[in-house]
Amino acid sequence: MKEKKFYLTTPIYYPSDNFHIGHCYTTIIADAIARFKRLDGYDTFFLTGTDEHGQKIEKKALENGITPKEYVDKIVDNAKDLWKHLNISYDKFIRTTDKYHEEVVQKIFKKLYDQGDIYKGEYKGLYCTPCESFWTQTQLDENGCCPDCHREVHEVKEEAYFFKLSKYQKPLEKFLEDNPDFIEPISRKNEMINNFIKPGLEDLCVSRTSFKWGVPVSFDEKHVVYVWIDALSNYISALGYLTDDDSLFKKYWPADLHIVGKEIIRFHTIIWPIILMALGLPLPKKIFGHGWLIVDGGKISKSLGNYKDPREYINAYGVDAVRYYALREVPFGSDGNFSEEALIIRTNSDLANILGNLVNRTIGMINKYFEGNVCNKKINEELDENLINYALNLKEIVTNYMDKLDISNAIDCIFELFRKCNKYIDDTTPWILAKSEENNDRLQTVLYNIIESIRIGTVLLQAFLPTTAEKIFSQLNTKQTTFDTITSFGNYESPNKVGKPEVLFARIEK
Ligand code: MSP
Repeated sequence: MKEKKFYLTTPIYYPSDNFHIGHCYTTIIADAIARFKRLDGYDTFFLTGTDEHGQKIEKKALENGITPKEYVDKIVDNAKDLWKHLNISYDKFIRTTDKYHEEVVQKIFKKLYDQGDIYKGEYKGLYCTPCESFWTQTQLDENGCCPDCHREVHEVKEEAYFFKLSKYQKPLEKFLEDNPDFIEPISRKNEMINNFIKPGLEDLCVSRTSFKWGVPVSFDEKHVVYVWIDALSNYISALGYLTDDDSLFKKYWPADLHIVGKEIIRFHTIIWPIILMALGLPLPKKIFGHGWLIVDGGKISKSLGNYKDPREYINAYGVDAVRYYALREVPFGSDGNFSEEALIIRTNSDLANILGNLVNRTIGMINKYFEGNVCNKKINEELDENLINYALNLKEIVTNYMDKLDISNAIDCIFELFRKCNKYIDDTTPWILAKSEENNDRLQTVLYNIIESIRIGTVLLQAFLPTTAEKIFSQLNTKQTTFDTITSFGNYESPNKVGKPEVLFARIEK
């Protein structure tokens, strides 16, 4: 077994509709982190999946005249296809309807009940009879009516099970004090502590009798387990916790990173740690709450008509244009605007102009001056130092940003190397060197330095844009693609012959 391990997760998405670019955003970032960790020698486990139970899905299925399972099966197939299109390298896809997961949820529920952390009580809520839905005060429409059908709601009581969050208030506060990096970014941490934890935790309703599409409480079958115990447990059930084979659990738990959207950070930083404390399990190392991709200042949704199937962008601009946009455009943690126009601008300015041009120009010059042959003649000048030093430090620079989950700067640093390469070409003027035979060795050295720098950048880039990186490696005709080949300068094969030139990113004309 390798020494270093890294377990990271995305949220499990609701398959109530096909996924949009917002879901892709989280998943692309998680994928880049997973790929980076693998390349950096970590034994990595990357989990994603779907959160399939609940009243909303039950209702949608009914409207479509199919069973809830039939309904979610279709969406899950669609999601898996989308992840394939986006090159998402997950190690496991968990569905909360998987039998092993349901059994683990039942065992967890029973264990918490047996030890007195779950008790039977009475749930009071605002109920809309035609919709058969419970709402909280804040969910109601502006007239205090059902947000779905806008009819009156009334208060009802139902028997329900409750989880004793209040009992764990102090241990949670202590844990957060002792682990200042547990919630990031810091702004979200303060919000959790001041707005939700300090005012006092109320016990949480964890079962329902008003709908059926959920995991039944094993000892009281008219109840189904309500949302969070079912959903959050996926992070440990996926590893085989409380199953016959818990080897993955032993190897990978606790999670190193749960990536979640800002609206569910509360559940991940309060309910989840408390469930784990109650189970006597170690807590995850970090919960990172990212911002939202918004369109024209608002949410992405089918009903607002600003939804496009993400495959349309992939087909039009290429998978790595979409990945690059998600990784680079928005500082991870903040909200950011998504627009097709901004995607085009990014693709043209960075992928076509900086990277695509650089690779194309370099291969072109090597073909033109040396019929594709590269050889490091080691006639270096002072001018080379800036480029070489930056390339040499790049792994460390990028790793530091990745450790801080500053993904956008991590990828931009790689592009900084490509910008430096372009500048180096302008400064060394190979076309002038090519004019006289006596500069031949210097010219070969210059081209070697460029191609080696491109290789170094691409070794790191493969975590972010795997398809493009593969294409560049093939044009460079190099086998030196691992992280241990970039801690010194000069590992590009010499002598060598470059591969066929190919346009990486055509400029998109609108
Ligand atoms: N099922 C729960 C999560 C349970 S995790 C144990 C859920 N599902 S969700 O489908 O509604 O959202 C899943 C994730 O997608 C959330 O982290 C949410 O922030 C993210 N996103 C949904 N729309 C998004 C954007 N427009 N932009 C960025 N992320 C978005 O909540």
